[in-house]
Amino acid sequence: MIPVSLGWPDGGGGTVQRSGHTSGDPVIVRACGLVLREWQPSDVPNMVAMFNTREMNRWTPLEYPFDERVASAYVERAHRARAGGTIQLAITEDGLTPLGEVLLFPTGVAQTCEFAYAVGSAYRGRALAARAVRALLPLARSQGYRTARLVIAVDNVPSHHVARAAGFTLTQERLQRRERKSYVLTMATWARSIAGDEKPVPAGPTGFPSVRVP
Ligand SMILES: CC(C)(COP(=O)(O)OP(=O)(O)OC[C@H]1O[C@@H](n2cnc3c(N)ncnc32)[C@H](O)[C@@H]1OP(=O)(O)O)[C@@H](O)C(=O)NCCC(=O)NCCS
Repeated sequence: MIPVSLGWPDGGGGTVQRSGHTSGDPVIVRACGLVLREWQPSDVPNMVAMFNTREMNRWTPLEYPFDERVASAYVERAHRARAGGTIQLAITEDGLTPLGEVLLFPTGVAQTCEFAYAVGSAYRGRALAARAVRALLPLARSQGYRTARLVIAVDNVPSHHVARAAGFTLTQERLQRRERKSYVLTMATWARSIAGDEKPVPAGPTGFPSVRVP
């Protein structure tokens, strides 16, 4: 199979690999001091506040301007994207207030998934992205993935820090030129194994499993 680099699956489609996450059951992950949960329509104002920035426009495929209409469509697409194996979750600490987003999606390469993330500028400095990625590793493993990768612009320094903090190392893979919106980005691939020795996800306060896998 030809490796397909999907980048951030902002279109909600185009994913090419299977995942067990295809039902409509909600995914909730509680780990690393976070509650990762699905986007809700009520998140729209917070999403606009976080994502309608030039910085997000530059480093992510998120639409810009990211207004309420765009945010509402984004929530719907995020739910639909599950059918293609993409898990797209709001990063929260309390299960309520969204602080950012983390995505887990197939790459087209066997047993290899990709992560992506964005954190609202008001919530930086808490290692939210690295913790969110680590929190999703057991779920990724349960889905059959054995390698995770990140595709990061070579000049996105904060994201390099996130990658290292989440246990990724820079690979020797060829740099990719990516034209996105008005930007031309040079992307490097980072990778880590999902060996199965990741910390188990602790049970949630309700006693239900922390990771609800359909
Ligand atoms: C990348 C991003 C998600 C990190 O947010 P975060 O999880 O809140 O990260 P933090 O603020 O806790 O910082 C993480 C690390 O980056 C470092 N860092 C943050 N801003 C930095 C900057 N401008 N220059 C250098 N280092 C920086 C921090 O010191 C920290 O380093 P450490 O792990 O060695 O302590 C956030 O910057 C973001 O959303 N950026 C825009 C979207 C984006 O780039 N997404 C990734 C696309 S690949």
